[in-house]
Amino acid sequence: MASIPLLPAMLQAVMKGQPKALADPHYPAWHLAPVTGLLNDPNGFIQFAGRYHLFYQWNALGCQHLHKCWAHWSSADLLHWQHEPIALMPDEEYDHNGCYSGSAIDNNGVLTLCYTGNVKFDDGSRTAWQCLAVQNSDGGFDKLGPAIPLPHGYTGHVRDPKVWRHDGQWYMVLGAQDLQLQGKVLLLRSENLWNWQNLGEIAGSGLNGLDDAGYMWECPDMFPLGEHTFLICCPQGVAREEKRYLNTYPSAYLSGTLDYARAQYQHGEFTELDAGFEFYAPQTTLADDGRRLLVGWMGVPDGEEMLQPTVANGWIHQMTCLRQLTEHNGKLYQQPVAELQALRGEEQRYRGTAEAMPALEAEQLELVLEGEGGLTLNFADTLILEWRGDELRLARRSLQTGEWLYRYWRGSAQKLQILCDRSSVEIFINEGEGVMSSRYFPTHPAQLTLRGVAEVQAHYWSLRSCM
Ligand code: FRU
Repeated sequence: MASIPLLPAMLQAVMKGQPKALADPHYPAWHLAPVTGLLNDPNGFIQFAGRYHLFYQWNALGCQHLHKCWAHWSSADLLHWQHEPIALMPDEEYDHNGCYSGSAIDNNGVLTLCYTGNVKFDDGSRTAWQCLAVQNSDGGFDKLGPAIPLPHGYTGHVRDPKVWRHDGQWYMVLGAQDLQLQGKVLLLRSENLWNWQNLGEIAGSGLNGLDDAGYMWECPDMFPLGEHTFLICCPQGVAREEKRYLNTYPSAYLSGTLDYARAQYQHGEFTELDAGFEFYAPQTTLADDGRRLLVGWMGVPDGEEMLQPTVANGWIHQMTCLRQLTEHNGKLYQQPVAELQALRGEEQRYRGTAEAMPALEAEQLELVLEGEGGLTLNFADTLILEWRGDELRLARRSLQTGEWLYRYWRGSAQKLQILCDRSSVEIFINEGEGVMSSRYFPTHPAQLTLRGVAEVQAHYWSLRSCM
């Protein structure tokens, strides 16, 4: 098993690599990022005994998608995060090709993790176990082993359990691929977290009017908000459209009603959750104060990720900012959590034409811009947002070919709230009706300049570091 060489190698990787990663001018000042190696999905997001916990997929040894363990941060305020002991290492027969994504629950006062044990075979096939682990008195986690083997009728791609409690029972959604290679979401129920009844497919490609909706659905998350029950998921293999689903894999949601007794989910069309270049595998949790919070991976598994310049400094990817979800007419709105306002320095204001506004330091910046469009925001000549009357168009060069690539948010924007870190920009449109999240790798100091004769009203703040 990988356990003997992995831990010393991880320690060495952190000791050798961390100084270089932290000195990288692209290393975030206020977003979560790996101290070395690769970070991908947020896992196990929960507020437990008052404190927030966020686990994540981590490969300490390099920037490739290998050796996934669950690393662990905790925070009292969603701003300052501390490292906790690594929660799960891929060191058992049932998870030795990776402790893959999953969720955390409070089981009668015991912080419990549900994750996928990923196992690959020499012939290229794989299987997956849905496993449990519980927190011990040292703050680490003891594995309890697999609770769910691969269900019949599916390939080895069954993963990413998201568990919640409803009416005295545990429920789980699982991402799955059936034997016809269609992406599905399964709903399961249990009284004790060990014996699970598979209630069947509640959504997927070929179901409920969703045809050709992908060959695998990853990272499902289901929750009620307002009058609706939402299912967030990452359908792989959805056809690219002219102005939608342009990333290698999208992150999208369905809105509807879940009939728990019949295990039926009535829902409408997909909506893309984020229209930027990097956003994937988000996970939500219900905070003690009733807010539905979301954090996503600001990355996408694609052909270009290894070309990001941070790889030369031994690290890759970051999380999005922490966001709050709200529901408006069956749609999900996302806004930065209010806690982030504590990072703001002194407020600056501007009113006038876009092009007469002074250039801003874009590295740690929050800008709230109101207007009607007809202007361009240029982030260090590296990321360019055209704010048009009926759409936003974001342009960035391909790291591979140098050609300009575009992402679109369609609709009329009146207000943008833009949060910048050293290598990321998150654009919240109309109080969260839309979001565009993207990494970019500017030469520092990075400046934001506006062009166009349109009138704008701006409020802006420089943001303090907190990582
Ligand atoms: C999504 C994903 C999950 C899987 C994990 C492995 O990015 O592929 O489906 O559990 O990453 O790191």
